[in-house]
Amino acid sequence: MEEDRLVSRQERAEDIEIEAGLRPRTLGEYIGQRPVKAQLEVFIRAARERSEVMDHVLLYGPPGLGKTTLAHIIAREMDAPIRVTSGPAIERPADLASILTRLEPGGVLFIDEIHRLARPSEEVLYPAMEDGALDVVLGGKGKGLGAQSMRISLPPFTIVGATTRAGLLTSPLRDRFGITLRLEFYPEEDLGQVIVRAAGLLGVAIEKEAVAMLAARSRGTPRIANRVLRRLRDFAQVRAGGVITEAVAEEGLKLLGIDKRGLDASDRRYLAVLAGQFQGGPVGVETLAAALSEESETLEDVLEPYLLQEGFIERTPRGRQVTAAGRSHLGIPGGTGGLFGS
Ligand code: ADE
Repeated sequence: MEEDRLVSRQERAEDIEIEAGLRPRTLGEYIGQRPVKAQLEVFIRAARERSEVMDHVLLYGPPGLGKTTLAHIIAREMDAPIRVTSGPAIERPADLASILTRLEPGGVLFIDEIHRLARPSEEVLYPAMEDGALDVVLGGKGKGLGAQSMRISLPPFTIVGATTRAGLLTSPLRDRFGITLRLEFYPEEDLGQVIVRAAGLLGVAIEKEAVAMLAARSRGTPRIANRVLRRLRDFAQVRAGGVITEAVAEEGLKLLGIDKRGLDASDRRYLAVLAGQFQGGPVGVETLAAALSEESETLEDVLEPYLLQEGFIERTPRGRQVTAAGRSHLGIPGGTGGLFGS
């Protein structure tokens, strides 16, 4: 179900091609995330001046904010080849060992969803990241007694890991990243710039008011803004002579079911179930996920970060709880939030 939502922050098939076209290729083109950019500028320049590889980088934050884009930018700014994989794609430790031994010297290995790397594969990464070496156990079946291990040294490389939540990483893995950068939701002003840039690249005219409206309703997430922008371009083409006017944006967003705060039907259902079926909470995330027929990970990674940031829900030790703002957004009267303590 998550894949079907227009405002899903997860990547959808259509995004891959589109994002490749819209994606900024240099730090200079990259809008927003100023603290992250400022740090990367320094680390990239310092590494280049020393003719060294950059330290391993961990990027974390909700989906759709540009972790993959930044990984590609890092490689490009380092003039380094990039190899892309993901935690779930690496099935066996040998797969990872093979990728590592084949990296070009100075190369970047981007591991998306690195928190989903299986433990045995993760253990291959420890010496690789720390000492630039692979520990290979010789002797197939005869591990244990008498098994020999051999160290192979790897050419220098940089791992760029991405995860939706740094807390999902084991601490030995987290500790091996020299640089940890957290991506934040984009403020409306930055998102407005992303939209203007994307509209230019897509060749569609968009009015200032429409930019502001779309920026306000894209949950601080460029992936959502760009996806909705393409739908609005369709509306504009069919109904308004190709220009995304304020009226086109208003009407289009309404038809797409995206409300004034950027919430869609799934968000509103989350709030409605929490406020109604669970009397506002607190309720444990697993119970709530079951009631919504969703994975708890989807709730935690995709739905909740924005609802939390907007103050519609709270995480308490006893579970999720709707706030007065959340009730009021749903139009439920008497939302003090105090009924349930906090
Ligand atoms: N497209 C998506 N995210 C972007 C960003 N941060 N800067 C420029 N264009 C983008």
